[in-house]
Amino acid sequence: MFRRIQRLVLLAFLPSLAHAQAANRVECGMREMSWARQRTRGPSHARQYRQSRDPRLVRGNDVCIQCHSQGRAVTNPILGRYYDWPVGNSAGQRPADYWQPEELKHGTTDFYQFADLTAHKNRMQGNDFVQSNMYHRQICCFDCHDVHSNENESNLRERGNALCLGCHTRRNAAGLKGTVSEHTHHGESRPGSQGTACHMPLIEQTIRGSYVAAHTFRFISPVETEQSGIPNPCTSCHAGKTNAWAIEALRRWEGASPWRVSN
Ligand code: HEC
Ligand code: HEC
Ligand code: HEC
Ligand code: HEC
Repeated sequence: MFRRIQRLVLLAFLPSLAHAQAANRVECGMREMSWARQRTRGPSHARQYRQSRDPRLVRGNDVCIQCHSQGRAVTNPILGRYYDWPVGNSAGQRPADYWQPEELKHGTTDFYQFADLTAHKNRMQGNDFVQSNMYHRQICCFDCHDVHSNENESNLRERGNALCLGCHTRRNAAGLKGTVSEHTHHGESRPGSQGTACHMPLIEQTIRGSYVAAHTFRFISPVETEQSGIPNPCTSCHAGKTNAWAIEALRRWEGASPWRVSN
């Protein structure tokens, strides 16, 4: 108990020590991750599908989610202060024992969320990512990010579409069945053909003018913009065009179900 209080005090009042603590936790997490990476080095189909539900992958994702999500410590206040991170949690433990994620409500747009539950505020990649099928298929933050840092932006393992296409082969249920251009309806290598352009729009912000990418990976249709105001990737990039223009364009796209993309 004393150790726990001592740790809380350190975390709360001595920022440099808190940093060291955080570094330790991440280092522990790395051990879990290096295990997960070993599994991702297998044949490509093994990399795309992790059929067995392995709690270590959930815990591995939790290492990132504990900081990159919105929530509150379950025992708030702690020594008179309120915390919005899982104080006391360490890599390998269940953050849920220390932390209550933000309650998201369908149909509400506020500081934290858009009406479809995509995050509105930054640093909520975890709240977003758990909604994706990729999370359910046990893909991890560190399948895309090399957290030991590298020369790519956002410490990504690959640049541009190479990141997505490493897994989104024909064998992946959500893989491209034709060329990138056939999927995106924009010219090969053009800005509108980037996987991130449509699946990770820069719509989350805390500071005015500074946006981070959505991590639900959902395509947000311009119809949803009409209904709830959530920005869609088409008219965010095509500034000056209307939602009606984008909806009409989507309805003409061969190979995409109009009921799915424009309704
Ligand atoms: C102890 C808390 C903590 C943990 C654990 C943590 N992060 Fe972070 N991360 C941060 C902070 C703080 C920043 C800086 C945020 C900023 O600059 O606004 C950051 C920044 C980042 C960035 C942006 C880097 C850039 O160059 O723009 C990425 C990507 C990232 N983290 C991914 C991850 C992943 C993946 C994991 C899990 C393997 C993880 N983080 C674990 C706290 C953490
Ligand atoms: C490490 C492998 C991997 C990488 C890298 C990857 N994906 Fe996926 N993705 C998957 C798997 C597995 C699925 C689930 C397929 C299924 O339904 O069985 C999936 C599903 C999806 C889906 C379906 C909807 C949903 O809820 O997730 C979208 C959209 C998607 N990925 C977009 C992307 C984009 C964009 C990138 C690049 C930024 C990317 N993926 C990178 C493995 C990956
Ligand atoms: C399927 C690949 C993929 C997965 C899984 C993924 N990310 Fe990302 N992430 C990206 C890409 C791509 C970007 C860069 C987007 C851009 O620059 O437009 C990014 C950007 C970021 C950033 C920088 C902020 C920004 O938007 O520029 C942070 C922080 C981050 N991711 C954290 C996480 C965390 C934490 C997880 C797990 C909960 C995670 N990511 C899972 C692909 C992924
Ligand atoms: C990241 C930016 C970006 C995004 C996101 C994007 N586009 Fe584009 N789009 C472009 C650019 C740039 C062009 C010009 C031609 C080119 O570069 O291929 C273009 C061309 C087009 C054209 C043909 C030319 C015209 O203006 O009539 C249509 C139609 C179109 N986009 C529709 C869409 C729709 C619908 C979406 C959403 C699903 C979308 N775009 C998303 C950048 C984007």
